[in-house]
Amino acid sequence: MNNLAGSQTIIEVIYLIASALFILSLRWMSSPATARRGVWAGEIGMVLAIGGTLLHEGIVDYTWIAIALVLGTLIGIPLGMVQMTAVPQRTALSHAAGALCVTLVGTAEFYLRSPDVPAFTMAVLSMEVILGALTFTGSLMAAGKLQEVLPQRPITYKGQNIVNLGFLAIAIAIAVYLVMHPGAKQVFPFMVGIPLVFGVLMIIPIGGADMPTVISLLNSYAGLSAAAMGFVVGSKLLIIAGALDGSSGFILSVIMSKAMNRSFTNVLFGAFGQVQASATGKAEEKTVRSATAEEAAGILAAANKVVVVPGYGMAVAQAQHKVREMFDALTKRGVDVRFAIHPVAGRMPGHMNVLLAEADIPYDRLMEMDEINGDFPQTDVALVIGANDVTNPAARTDQSSPIFGMPILDVDKARTVMVIKRSMNPGFAGIDNPLYYLDQTLMLFGDAKSFVSDIVKELGGGH
Ligand code: TAP
Repeated sequence: MNNLAGSQTIIEVIYLIASALFILSLRWMSSPATARRGVWAGEIGMVLAIGGTLLHEGIVDYTWIAIALVLGTLIGIPLGMVQMTAVPQRTALSHAAGALCVTLVGTAEFYLRSPDVPAFTMAVLSMEVILGALTFTGSLMAAGKLQEVLPQRPITYKGQNIVNLGFLAIAIAIAVYLVMHPGAKQVFPFMVGIPLVFGVLMIIPIGGADMPTVISLLNSYAGLSAAAMGFVVGSKLLIIAGALDGSSGFILSVIMSKAMNRSFTNVLFGAFGQVQASATGKAEEKTVRSATAEEAAGILAAANKVVVVPGYGMAVAQAQHKVREMFDALTKRGVDVRFAIHPVAGRMPGHMNVLLAEADIPYDRLMEMDEINGDFPQTDVALVIGANDVTNPAARTDQSSPIFGMPILDVDKARTVMVIKRSMNPGFAGIDNPLYYLDQTLMLFGDAKSFVSDIVKELGGGH
């Protein structure tokens, strides 16, 4: 008996340390300077949480657990090695796995305990299962859209939102019925099945461009369902970890929506990304001026102040190390080079910060949008590398633009604008960018990595 109480205390202490590490992890991850420490804290916290759980007295046989650990490791290692641009869909797959797990645990708990399920437990168990099931299929759909194995365009039909909310309402009604009649085993499968369908229907009308926001919201649902599972199985650790996950995912989705100047309901129900054809059509009639790497290097070397605007294309081309070499070559010549970071540049929050940090570009050269926007009129050259939507002045001026109102980097106010991209193709929002037709704009057509590399050669830098 003493032994049992002793090991229970050890488990509680381990869980307490793990919870503290999860909280510190989030705190540290909020700044690039401490982010690495944050990742370590999260990882150690998770190892402790798993270790503590393995000490439980209730475990009589480790065989299945060992098989699951090996399987999980075999799946987890390749998942952790995907390209950084594929991290949003990779994250969605992790949410799907977590949500499936929560749904299965909830289902097992119900059938083990029914009909003796107290009302509170049945209520949180229902929440766990509904959120878990819709997050499972919703996350799979989101990953499929981002990986382009499913169509990115929103698929809509009349009365869609009512149909979708109807499905959710039925699932909630079943949950209420089960709280009152916890012995009604025959209706439980519907409470799992309907949210599974709802998860698919919920994502179909949302355009690919909004998937990162949706994934962050699904992250929040997965967290909430894990917290609900914590109440069902009596685990304080799960309640804390789930609540942290739920709230941080929600805050992140709100931040992303704000950075795109879109309301939450617009992201979820607005079918963004549907009317794009007419805007792209305009591109062919207008003319643009282009320049070579040699000309671009000359302009950069003659400048006093240069602001580099990185975007998704820099990530795709993996050009960050070449950008660092260009930064060094220009700095050596006495040019003041800074980087303007838009909050939704790339495909995930902090995408540009991570890439530039990887290339050891000093943090104090990275400027947030609000800090740098006032400086563009005094900037000699704004060098846009693989960014498009986040520099589109139509967001400021064209009320009919789908991105009207989205805060952008005001690169069009710089004396000269140079844009590295491969073609006149649009960015993620699928719309034309009037920036390219301005008198002071020069298009530098090519892959970001090789073009920057050529500029570096012209500047006489690099290895
Ligand atoms: P985008 O508007 O997507 O534009 C990227 C540009 O990079 C494209 O126009 C493409 O033009 C170019 N490109 C692609 N590969 C390239 C390569 N190898 N070399 C050179 N250029 C290349 O990117 P952005 O300005 O970073 O904006 C991000 C978009 O994602 C926004 O619409 C934003 O709302 C959306 N979004 C982001 C997030 C987060 S959290 N970051 C969340 C939700 C939505 P070419 O094909 O001509 O080369």
